[in-house]
Amino acid sequence: MKNKLVFVIFGITGDLAKRKIIPAIYMLAKNKEIKDFYIIGIARRNLKESFVLSSEKLIKNVDRKILNKLVKNSKYVQLDFRNLNEYDKLKEKLAALEKKGFINKLFYFSTPPEGFAQISENLEKSGILKQKKGWKKAVFEKPFGYDLSSARKINSTLLKIFNEKEIYRIDHYLGKELVENILISRFTNRILEPLWNNKHIESVQIVLDETKGIEGRGSYYDKYGAIKDVVQNHMFQMLALVAMESPKMLEGDYIKHEKSKVLKNVKIKDVLLGQYEGYREEEKVAKNSMTETFAVLKAEINNKRWKGVPFFLKTGKFLEKKETKITLKFKKVKCLLTKSCPSDSNYLEIRIEPNEGISFEINAKPPGRKAIMPVKMEFCHSCVFGPNTPE
Ligand code: BG6
Repeated sequence: MKNKLVFVIFGITGDLAKRKIIPAIYMLAKNKEIKDFYIIGIARRNLKESFVLSSEKLIKNVDRKILNKLVKNSKYVQLDFRNLNEYDKLKEKLAALEKKGFINKLFYFSTPPEGFAQISENLEKSGILKQKKGWKKAVFEKPFGYDLSSARKINSTLLKIFNEKEIYRIDHYLGKELVENILISRFTNRILEPLWNNKHIESVQIVLDETKGIEGRGSYYDKYGAIKDVVQNHMFQMLALVAMESPKMLEGDYIKHEKSKVLKNVKIKDVLLGQYEGYREEEKVAKNSMTETFAVLKAEINNKRWKGVPFFLKTGKFLEKKETKITLKFKKVKCLLTKSCPSDSNYLEIRIEPNEGISFEINAKPPGRKAIMPVKMEFCHSCVFGPNTPE
């Protein structure tokens, strides 16, 4: 019998599972990358409707057949993850599935980091992790702890339970097509590398703006805030990809090594924090909360390539548009015309979303005049590869 896969998702009623994980499993099924799978969703609250259906509206052009397959191959297990006794329900369900050949298990921790160690320990104590056949993997969503010492503590607990190769500490931004594209574009185009440094680049801007507020996630968000929620992870990942040196190969450990080298040289020079109006009235947010929902940081990278180039990072909730993009502003050239000077800078814009793509703004001449006008050279992802850029 071919080995089959069970997704065991803790925190299934949360925002992440609804917005990202279930739609991602749907896409895997649609693209036939997974065939025989089962989803066990776990959370504390009582749930009447299938958790798969809560994601329905978030899937573009939904194919009912695929969605029904997900509904049919899933089950909700109501369980308080702090209580070891309650894990028997999960154990029984997994044992029944094992008899049907579902021996590979992927445990997905879509919970706040406070749950990581305790759930892992309870999985182990309940005997769920003992398996004779198949593999097991554990996926941990960010933030990985609250600070360095709590992250280390979680890590040491996990390493007593899983081995390093079974642990995935992930950041969903790294799955975005245009984020993955950064290294490919940088290191496979000869024209970019010679310009990618402080001699030619004036500044780099990384923006992650959102129109949404905290969407009922007050108890999590109020403790973490924008810096821990999106800056130190998603935005620093983008910064690292833009700023790192070329890895030996465009692969796992080589990339990690170069990223960590550049991140060690980042110095934060200035910070501005803000909070959207009405944030303190959100559910489960302290009435006197000082948690930031908006942040602008000015960073510098202390190495030969980037010395003197400011990196501006900006993010916020409840802003005018939903937009994630990286803009590199090039230094101006000496303008040699008598009129129409100074000429504009050149900009390279990587649009992570929406309108995924890359554009390069260069100066050109409008017809009939000796003047300068910025025009765009454009790579539109959906025009080349079709709609629905995968996340
Ligand atoms: C998550 C944050 O990691 O990223 C959310 O917890 C944020 O607060 C989200 O809304 C943004 O991700 P995306 O993919 O919608 O840009």
